[in-house]
Amino acid sequence: MDGNGRWAKERGLPRIAGHREGAESVRAVLKACVEFGVKYLTVYAFSTENWRRPQEEVDFLMELFSATIDRELDELMAEGVKLNFLGRLARFSPEIQAKMKKAADKTAENKRITVSVMLNYGGRAEIVDALRQMTNDKLANEQINEENISKYLYTCGIPDPDLLIRTANEMRVSNFLLWQIAYAEIYVTPVYWPDFRREQLKEAIEDYQKRVRKFGQTEEQIKNAG
Ligand code: IPE
Ligand code: MG
Repeated sequence: MDGNGRWAKERGLPRIAGHREGAESVRAVLKACVEFGVKYLTVYAFSTENWRRPQEEVDFLMELFSATIDRELDELMAEGVKLNFLGRLARFSPEIQAKMKKAADKTAENKRITVSVMLNYGGRAEIVDALRQMTNDKLANEQINEENISKYLYTCGIPDPDLLIRTANEMRVSNFLLWQIAYAEIYVTPVYWPDFRREQLKEAIEDYQKRVRKFGQTEEQIKNAG
């Protein structure tokens, strides 16, 4: 989710206004995902690098996460949303951690869509954490394989993403799901995140549907198999 600050700046508003509007986009995109039958939505809300922003912006974002959980939880529950909060969560205040845990526990059995909110998340940190856990668990050399590494990531049990959407025209991965996006289709749009809603998601999915996913094979092989 990128472009909140630029969205605000273009309107002569403070950056936090962009974040507030961006939270509305999360709401709209989630609703559209439910409508379109998307089973997994993973949003990059706060990176391991975002702590370096001005303290008042960081404070505002913390407050926004907390208030959004409070405000949306009943509706998320009613819509069958399973919520995950993934990342190095220990860095957050005990209050926010407790709130995340409560929301995750409450929605744990929901089946319609799994929404993962990545917080204090970094793709490299995630791989480091996985490897540490694997050595703690004393995995044997032959158990170090792709399947097991996937299982030790925070996203254990969540399929690799089919589509990676980057807003605000950023042509980089920014340390997001480094392992999991190996074969993801990438969609880059100039639209700023606060303007990314149902219609924009529909366009992204329609673009994705036109792609031929080859997974290393030739186009002919894919056509003959299909
Ligand atoms: C993304 O928008 C929001 C978060 C990182 C929480 P930005 O705040 O990065 O927006 P720009 O890049 O300044 O436009
Ligand atoms: Mg940005």
